[in-house]
Amino acid sequence: MYVCVCHAVTEDVVRDHMAAGACSAKEVRAACGMRPGCGSCVNRICALLAETVERPVLEGAA
Ligand code: FES
Repeated sequence: MYVCVCHAVTEDVVRDHMAAGACSAKEVRAACGMRPGCGSCVNRICALLAETVERPVLEGAA
């Protein structure tokens, strides 16, 4: 699935760059070689980043 249609960047490519250390939308866009475009992919990139952030473990939570 394409995350960025303007630059033909797929979700797999975005995930690969996140796994390699890109941890912000700006870093992901730079790593993927996305030049300025319409910007409509930023929300999708942020959602993918949010999925990969480790959730804190709450002590005592049931
Ligand atoms: S969809 Fe990514 S810049 Fe347009």
